[in-house]
Amino acid sequence: MQQRILILDDEPDMLENCRRILGAVGYECLTTTEPEIALKLLETDHLDLLLTDLRMPTISGLEILKRARAIDPSRPVIMLTAFATIESAVEAMKEGAFHYLAKPFTMDQLKLSVERAIEQRRLAIENANLREQLRGVYGFENIVGRSMALQQVLELVRKAARSDANILVLGESGTGKELIARAIHANSERAAQPFVPVDCASLPENLLESELFGHERGAFTGAMNAKPGLMELADKGTLFLDEIGELPAGLQSKLLRALQEREIRRVGGTRQIPIDIRVVSATNRDLKTQIGEGRFREDLYYRVNVIDIPLPPLRERKGDITLLAHFFLKKFTQKANNRIVGFEPEVLVALEAYGWPGNVRELQNVIERACALADDERIALADLPEHLRAPVPVNDVTVPSDLGARMTLKEAKERWINQLESAYVAEVLKREGGNVSQAARKAGIDRKTLHRLLHKHNLR
Ligand SMILES: Nc1ncnc2c1ncn2[C@@H]1O[C@H](COP(=O)(O)OP(=O)(O)OP(=O)(O)O)[C@@H](O)[C@H]1O
Ligand SMILES: [Mg+2]
Repeated sequence: MQQRILILDDEPDMLENCRRILGAVGYECLTTTEPEIALKLLETDHLDLLLTDLRMPTISGLEILKRARAIDPSRPVIMLTAFATIESAVEAMKEGAFHYLAKPFTMDQLKLSVERAIEQRRLAIENANLREQLRGVYGFENIVGRSMALQQVLELVRKAARSDANILVLGESGTGKELIARAIHANSERAAQPFVPVDCASLPENLLESELFGHERGAFTGAMNAKPGLMELADKGTLFLDEIGELPAGLQSKLLRALQEREIRRVGGTRQIPIDIRVVSATNRDLKTQIGEGRFREDLYYRVNVIDIPLPPLRERKGDITLLAHFFLKKFTQKANNRIVGFEPEVLVALEAYGWPGNVRELQNVIERACALADDERIALADLPEHLRAPVPVNDVTVPSDLGARMTLKEAKERWINQLESAYVAEVLKREGGNVSQAARKAGIDRKTLHRLLHKHNLR
């Protein structure tokens, strides 16, 4: 698209010269000697750039600059000024002028200055668009749920996103921690910069270290080339440390140092590389307990947890289940040519009665499966996995009479959840004939999580 430039100067010759020079390189130029007309055009027309004289009989260029910036602060303004008024040109720069050209200027000076201003505007627009796009993909509209519990979380997320503080997202597996982390980034000042996720549980310590910090050439056998780490790649943006509770002790210290000093050193290197990152972490562990057991550094905990955002499990926001179910139905029925239009009522009852140990991810899997299986235009009870069809009544739980004396409610809950978790995992694994991948899919958790649970409950 052709770029449009408005030129305002009280000397018609000046206008003509500029129009000729800029017109020859493909810009469309509007010219006027009247400040009032220029201001009108700035309001009504699509203009990418304003060139204005600084000294004019009726109104000062500085005033024009201020008004032009008030109309559209992203549109650059270049001041044209006689040598004698350089000081006011500097003043104009302070007021937000992009550049000034001292008269007389050469053709090349004019072209270069205009080109740069236009390029800056293009980048600004591109950034704004990118930010919009990111908001579209990872914004709050994509976080489904109207329950009080979730709305309170989102309110906190909104505020936390605006700050540049490090954030710790807490919650059980599948509650949407990564979704929240991305929303924080997409709604922050850093939105147009990279969002770099790191799974702290996925790699052994030495590999994770060179992933995070990068390495220099020859740092270890096989390091044929130098490689920047993820912390470097996240510069100016957000580093997402997923499963931070799994970070090995050695790396905890190194991470802490890097965050405190705002610089890193690649493995095998001596150079200090400055980094400017915001850290969002996530964990489904109780880090306080891990600190107590000496498995997580307290100082690192306070460094990454300036604001903590606890995500409630799905069973504590039952009100969101129907909404989420419809949301996922819409998502997956598109793959099935929108063949499925809704749920039989008893399906929704069953979904609400279920405990969702795998939270939203499990619900998503259940709906995806049902969409694939459904014969009719409505999802029926038969399309749900068996364990959902006959939900265990919640009031089946018996409370030993002396329980209150022996443990707090929190402890009792933990023990109950633990038992349920253990029984669930054993059952699902049995049903899938010991196939971990398949069992994980059925449970709506990932393989890693299942392995962890097997380990935790001594199953295997
Ligand atoms: N409120 C929500 N609205 C829409 N989709 C959601 C919501 N919460 C979670 N999801 C979806 O559920 C899935 C699991 O979410 P996510 O990966 O963010 O969870 P997580 O807490 O990081 O899980 P894990 O601990 O297993 O890594 C994703 O596909 C995500 O898009
Ligand atoms: Mg996750």
